[in-house]
Amino acid sequence: MIDQIRALLKECDGLLVAHYYQRDEVVEIADLTGDSLELARKASQSERSLVVFCGVGFMGQSVKILAPHKRVIMPRLACCSMARMIDDTYFDESIALMQSYGIHDIFPITYINSNAQVKAKVGAMGGVVCTSANAGKIFEYAQSHRKKIFFLPDRCLGLNLAKRYGIKSAILGVSSKEEVIDADIICYNGFCSVHQLFSVEDIEFYRSKYPEILIVTHPECPPEVVERSDFVGSTSQIIQYVTSLAPDQKVAVGTEYNLVNRLRKPYNGENHTFVLSSTKPECPTMNETTLEDILKVLQAYKDQNPYNEIQIPQEVGALAKQALDKMMELSK
Ligand code: 13P
Ligand code: SF4
Repeated sequence: MIDQIRALLKECDGLLVAHYYQRDEVVEIADLTGDSLELARKASQSERSLVVFCGVGFMGQSVKILAPHKRVIMPRLACCSMARMIDDTYFDESIALMQSYGIHDIFPITYINSNAQVKAKVGAMGGVVCTSANAGKIFEYAQSHRKKIFFLPDRCLGLNLAKRYGIKSAILGVSSKEEVIDADIICYNGFCSVHQLFSVEDIEFYRSKYPEILIVTHPECPPEVVERSDFVGSTSQIIQYVTSLAPDQKVAVGTEYNLVNRLRKPYNGENHTFVLSSTKPECPTMNETTLEDILKVLQAYKDQNPYNEIQIPQEVGALAKQALDKMMELSK
């Protein structure tokens, strides 16, 4: 099957792209792997006319927005559950609620885990997209506008940034009106169901079992987990950090299972890399894509009967592109 996929990719001028949370079989045959920032940048800049994106919907959409001339197909139209927590209607309602509180100078930042319509709303307001890899830089740029920052949809990433920069935060619909008015960053109440699994108890368990252990987490984890971590970063940054450690350094990692499971092989017959959770932190939608799905979607594309192709209305794409282009410019 791998040979068939390779042959079809060649015939269709396709680039096979996979996020690190994909199944091993998919990651192993991909032309390009990375975190969401790297994949958006490299896939949109590649010379191939077709991108076959193994990931979740917002990732394929980001490539299409950045490179509208490319064809982008997804073996599975899997959706990130966090991205589903906000749409353009919820966005408008959130802005209206802030305005009803007397807040009018608003600078929106949307995490890349959001759909094209939400990115377009943000672009129309002069806002920016961010990812977990560049959130600090984007946040500093937003702060220079001296407006209230509306951060969406991930409340954890927003709260973690507020803590890092020592500024006041609130969660829309959860915090009181007074707290929202007083805050410098107002977070939308979205979250990642996978990264919510990691807890302070998990950290305490590992620290008491292995006093020398390092705790590594993704910034989608809750603030009380992030503040107790030795290293916090995007999926690429986590891989870089953990693989540069001594092979016998014990580490417990708070992110998706497929990535953690591939990080390091046992050393001297002993495992030194642990999942920071007693339950398996699997992202169900990231796990959907199989080799069969890749083969089928490519065959249909070759037969001029494509399905799961990303299409974005032109005016939505143009506005969303403004917010994504700004992010790319700021994260060079
Ligand atoms: P990265 O940008 O770190 O790859 O994260 C994407 C994501 O969805 C994490 O849950
Ligand atoms: Fe979305 Fe969470 Fe899955 Fe990442 S791990 S794709 S944020 S549901």
